[in-house]
Amino acid sequence: MKTKRISSAMEKMLNEQMTREAYQAQVYLSFGCWAEENSFVGVSEFLYRHMQEEREHMFKFVKYILDRGGSISIDTIKAAPKAPKDIGDCLEKILKHEIDNSKEIDKIVNLAHKEKDWATFSFGQWFVKEQIEEETLINELIDKYTLASKEVTDNVNLYEMDKDLASASQHATIPREEKL
Ligand code: FEO
Repeated sequence: MKTKRISSAMEKMLNEQMTREAYQAQVYLSFGCWAEENSFVGVSEFLYRHMQEEREHMFKFVKYILDRGGSISIDTIKAAPKAPKDIGDCLEKILKHEIDNSKEIDKIVNLAHKEKDWATFSFGQWFVKEQIEEETLINELIDKYTLASKEVTDNVNLYEMDKDLASASQHATIPREEKL
């Protein structure tokens, strides 16, 4: 049993975020299944890999809460959203989920700052950076989709994009990491 080093309010907020990361994994899982059902195998592989990343995020919260002497409360995970209309809609919905998630991470960092809980503030910074990366990554995919789907009439580029996503990185280079 460790000494509890986070406030009860922070413990609650971190537990809620843990469940939210599990929900994020369900979103990627459900959209990945939708893509595979619709023969976009590359897109589905990308989404399944990202589902694993979200589970890792969830587990980071589990470990952090326990390391700081808090208790884990495993809660209900919301149902995954309805299937998207097409790949563009899928990517737009994912972006919205990521932006919503970034706002929730900001709340944790704000509370940590208010409480002068510098350990959680530091822990939260990893997620702030991760969310910048994830939003950038999805924005880049939306750009690729726009190029692939809007500028040709026969959609051959959509086939190329699907192959591209099969091996696409799960990480984007964020501006401050750019090498000159
Ligand atoms: Fe863990 Fe994509 O947020």
